[in-house]
Amino acid sequence: MCGIIGYTGRRNAEQVLVKGLSRLEYRGYDSAGIAVINKGDIQIRKKQGKLSVLMDELSHNPAKGTTGIGHTRWATHGVPNDVNAHPHVDSGRNIAIVHNGIIENYKEIRKRLQAKGYEFVSGTDSENIAHLVSDCYAGDLYKAVKKAVSMLKGSFAIVVIHREEPGRIVGARKDSPLVAGLGDGEYFLASDIPAVLEYTRDVIYVENGEIVDIKDGGITIYGSGGKIERRDPTAIKWDISQAEKKGYKHFMLKEIFEQPGIIRNMLAERVRKGKIKFEELAIPEKDLKRIKRISVVACGTAYHAGLIGKYLIEKIARVPVWVDQASEFRYRDPLVDKDTLVIVISQSGETADTLAALREAKRKGAAVLAVCNVLGSSIAREADGVIYTHAGPEIAVASTKAYTAQIAILHLFTYFFAGIKGTVGKEEKGFLREFRKLPGNLDKLLGPYHSAKNRLAGYAAEFHEYYLARNNKSCFLYLARNINYPNALEGALKLKEISYISAEGYPAGEMKHGPIALIDENPWVVCVATNAQTHEKMLSNIQEIKARGGIVIAIVSEGDDLLRDESINYAIEIPRVPEIFSPELVAVPLQLLAYYVAGEFGYDIDKPRNLAKSVTVE
Ligand code: G6P
Repeated sequence: MCGIIGYTGRRNAEQVLVKGLSRLEYRGYDSAGIAVINKGDIQIRKKQGKLSVLMDELSHNPAKGTTGIGHTRWATHGVPNDVNAHPHVDSGRNIAIVHNGIIENYKEIRKRLQAKGYEFVSGTDSENIAHLVSDCYAGDLYKAVKKAVSMLKGSFAIVVIHREEPGRIVGARKDSPLVAGLGDGEYFLASDIPAVLEYTRDVIYVENGEIVDIKDGGITIYGSGGKIERRDPTAIKWDISQAEKKGYKHFMLKEIFEQPGIIRNMLAERVRKGKIKFEELAIPEKDLKRIKRISVVACGTAYHAGLIGKYLIEKIARVPVWVDQASEFRYRDPLVDKDTLVIVISQSGETADTLAALREAKRKGAAVLAVCNVLGSSIAREADGVIYTHAGPEIAVASTKAYTAQIAILHLFTYFFAGIKGTVGKEEKGFLREFRKLPGNLDKLLGPYHSAKNRLAGYAAEFHEYYLARNNKSCFLYLARNINYPNALEGALKLKEISYISAEGYPAGEMKHGPIALIDENPWVVCVATNAQTHEKMLSNIQEIKARGGIVIAIVSEGDDLLRDESINYAIEIPRVPEIFSPELVAVPLQLLAYYVAGEFGYDIDKPRNLAKSVTVE
């Protein structure tokens, strides 16, 4: 799950590649590198660490030329170091490649090529590709790549250059994303659109099995059989400024504050004349009407959104819903068939496990609906129908705005689906009346957090002191019930991801079956005790924690008595809404708490260690 880029045109390739990589760093940042063709030679600059380390190297040792490739790495095979960083070259330094994906038969290829005298210097599977293309090369880079990729097993998006073919870049993909950007006399290949958006809005999504040959100022796309594919470019409508920080200290904070606007736009786009519309859905209503069960499949944060979807759909549309982590779904021979609607949820639309689950579901005859954020992503294209969350590019690795957008879309889809199923009638109007208040409630909730000195920032500072005073012994527990239980999982995930502090999410009712043993004066326990049918039960849980010396942060509805309860250590209020409309609101203080705690520890909030935004390996 790395980021790759290729460029050929009139500009200084080094600058274009580095700029593009800065937009792809969310895909991995263990090392970065570029290769540029200059006077029949390939200049390679690559460094372990974030892109800034490579930029520093380039400031002393620039690479000159107008054709090149670049890479930002998330290590799979081989530790993150300078040697394993991409680009990789063949033994003769004629060919350089960048690769995103995993080559499954790399051991076999390596053995064969070593026997032929090729010398391997890295511990990566990717280096095989450089030697293999070299072995297949007989004066034409496209033909060599075509032959080489036919021998590769696994997943890949690659971009390749040859030192004797300046002005030519060849790309190929199988199960890892690749887009081609078409500029004025210049071309780009990249893992994702933001990498090229500064230069062009015209892109072509490269399909699985295709090879792109860019040379002599033209682009040719070959299908898997070698047939030339003709495809018009898609014009990208969103702006690069949507992917910039706009004065916020971190992308994560910016993205948290974007949430009200996203839901506002979603309402404007999806609700017309009091009716919920999903224009791009593409699954006919008659097919949805006969659905007997729903299976939701996703990973990470998107999985938590799916769990909330289960509560919503079962309660309102009265159709049973199973929710699976995509990595588990496909290995247990899931019971899905033509009566099942499989909803795959993915911000990036590229998560390998989710994509594999989608294919498994289709193979079993189920209709697949994707809820995706990235337009034209693999999952969006392979599903039978798609609903986009339109949350704009999410850059911070820890997902925030995509999560609330996924929940909100599931809210709307639930009522849309329930309307088709006939389990709601007039209630839809009541639902929309309440749902329309969500952006305003999010604004109100976020209001106090525009200033850097706010309550949650204060709690985070106190936690930091507490943690240090206890020799790092403290941890976090998140408890909630019913529709907010998935938010407990998500709150814990956010904290783990960016603060590296041990955190667990639990349904509060399960506390007595294990987590209560953790309670002494060390853990901080976040309790979601908002207006709900289980409110009284949450209050009892809080008392149980207090009685054992635990420290409580209570998330409550405005006006709640807990705000005046002196035995509660910390309390955060959210607008008072009916329980079913609360998940999008409860998510926000949990996101902010994780953000401020990570800030206190001085961690790199937007790029947490070992993680990547788009996980295109299984
Ligand atoms: C990674 C990201 C998470 C994300 C998960 C699923 O782990 O760091 O933030 O929730 O992948 O990604 P997807 O793009 O499929 O939603």
